[in-house]
Amino acid sequence: MFYQVYVRSFRDSNGDGVGDIRGIIESLDYLQTLGVDALWLSPCFTSPQVDHGYDVADYREIDLLFGTVEDMDALISHAHTRNIRVTLDFVPNHTSHQHRWFQAAVAAGRGSAERERYLFRDGRGEQGELPPNNWMSVFGGPSWTRVSEPEGSPQSPAQWYYHLFAAEQPDLNWRNPEVVTEFEDVIRFWLDRGVDGFRIDVSDALIKDADFPDTDGGWPIIPKDPDGEVHDIYRRFRRVFDEYIGDRMAVIETGADDATVAGFIRPDEMHLAFNFRFVKAGFVAEQLRDAIDSSLAANARVGAPTTWVTDNHDTPRSVGRYSQGTQLHGSYVPATTSQIDFDEARGQQRARAMALLLLALPGAVYVYNGQELGLPNVDDLPESALQDPVWEKSGHTNRGRDNCRIPMPWHAEGPCFGFSSAPHTWLPMPDYWGRYSVASQTDATDSMLQLYRQALKLRRAHAPLGRGQLTWIESPADVLHIRLTHDGQSVDVLVNTGKADVPLPSGTVLLASGDVSDGVLPEDAAVWLEGQM
Ligand code: GLC
Repeated sequence: MFYQVYVRSFRDSNGDGVGDIRGIIESLDYLQTLGVDALWLSPCFTSPQVDHGYDVADYREIDLLFGTVEDMDALISHAHTRNIRVTLDFVPNHTSHQHRWFQAAVAAGRGSAERERYLFRDGRGEQGELPPNNWMSVFGGPSWTRVSEPEGSPQSPAQWYYHLFAAEQPDLNWRNPEVVTEFEDVIRFWLDRGVDGFRIDVSDALIKDADFPDTDGGWPIIPKDPDGEVHDIYRRFRRVFDEYIGDRMAVIETGADDATVAGFIRPDEMHLAFNFRFVKAGFVAEQLRDAIDSSLAANARVGAPTTWVTDNHDTPRSVGRYSQGTQLHGSYVPATTSQIDFDEARGQQRARAMALLLLALPGAVYVYNGQELGLPNVDDLPESALQDPVWEKSGHTNRGRDNCRIPMPWHAEGPCFGFSSAPHTWLPMPDYWGRYSVASQTDATDSMLQLYRQALKLRRAHAPLGRGQLTWIESPADVLHIRLTHDGQSVDVLVNTGKADVPLPSGTVLLASGDVSDGVLPEDAAVWLEGQM
C-alpha cells in the first residue's frame, strides 16, 4: 500500500505555510499507524515551482522550500527503520526552463549540441514567426514558445521550442543518447541514497512524432507502438534498477488504454502502472467491473501486478465524484463537483464503500493524502487564491487542480488546524476543515480514518485481501460480488451501487462500510465476508 504525499500539503515543520520533508518525518507515527508500506513523494527537487515541482531545475538537489538532501536522507532512514519504503517522483519528459541545460541551449543558439537536448525547431512563415505546427499544450494555449536568439549571432530567424505542458517546462529530446545517460545517472544518484523507487511522470510521452505534423484539433502525436523507441528507454532504465540489490521499483503514469499501458510493464521494462481506468470509473457497478476485468486481463498478459487507485493530485477528490456517480473523461478536467450539487453524505458513504473495494483487490494500492480522511474538494476558492498554472494557461477557463490539493488538517482547531504555524497556508484551508482532521477522526470510531486503519490491518492479516485469486459471483447488475481466494482461504467482497438492499451471503463479517446488522447490505455500502472453504 503506497501513500502519496503531496509534500506541500502534508505537514509544514518550519512555519512557512508549505509542507516539507521534516513534516513527513514528524508524521511517521501517523503513517505507520495507518498501515502504509511505502510513500510516494510528489517532486521536491529544486524548482521554480511553476507547476509545483513538476518543473525540475536540478534533479539531484532538494528545493529549500522542502528541505535539504540531508533531510531526505533522514526521511529514508527513519522510514526504513519502520519498514516503510520511500519512492520519489521522477520527471523525465521536461525540465524547468531554469535547468542549466535549457539555459545553455538558449544561449548556445541554433545548430548547437546544447539545443539537441531539447526540441528546438524553426518556425513557419516568411520570418519564422509562426509556430512549427499546430499542437496544443495540455495546460491550454500553443505548445511552442519562441526564444530570443543570443546577441550578435547571425542565426535569425529565432527558433521555437516545444513544451507539452507550460512554456516553463521545455520537453527534452529523448532521441538524444546524452539525455538517456543523464537520467540513468539521476536514477542511480537516488537509488544510491537508499530510495526504493520512483513514480515516472508522463511516462508514455517521451518520444513525439519526429516530423511534428499538424493534427486535427492540435493533439500531439505520441507514437504508441509497443516496439517503439520509448520502450528502449524503459529497458535501459530497467537495467539500472536491476543493478541494485533489494526491491527497487518504478510505477509509470500514463493515461493510455490498458493494452498500451501493459506494454510499459513487460518483464524487462517497468514494474507497475497506475490504473487510470479505475480512477475514472464512477460509483457504477458496470464501470467498476469493466475497469477491474480489463486491467487484470491486460496485466496478466505481461505477467505484471495491477494497481488500484481512485485519487491523486491531478483529479477531483473521489468523495465529490462519487456523490454524483460521475465518470471522468480525462485528466486535468475542471472540477466535476460544485458546492450546490455535492451530496456530502452520499459521497462519504460511497467513498467508504470504495475504500473496501480498493483495499481488497489483488495488487498494489495507492492512497492520496487526505483520502483516508474523506477530504472533499474545495471548489469555491476565490480566484485570487488559485495556484495551479492551469488557471492562467487556460485563459481562466479551467480552475485547475487546486480543489484536491488543500493542506491536511491535523487538529480539530487552532491555527491552520495543526498543518502549519504560519498565519496563511499556500492554499487557504476552509474554516470547516477541522471536522475532517486526524484528531477528530481518531476520536470517532466510525470515521473514514478508522475504516482505513481497520481495513489495512485486516488486509495484512487475511491473505486473500490484496493478494487472492479473483472470481466473480453472480449478482444483480448494480452489485459487485467478488470472491478472493488464497491458500484455501476466501474473502467475499460485495459493493452495492444500486438502490435495493442486498441479502448478505453466508460468511463472517470482517468489516463493513455501512450498517449490515440486519443481515442486508444497504445502498452505497460494501462488506468483507470471510468464507468457509
Ligand atoms: C503529471 C503530473 C502533473 C503535472 C504534469 C506535468 O501528469 O501528475 O501534476 O502537472 O505531469 O509534469
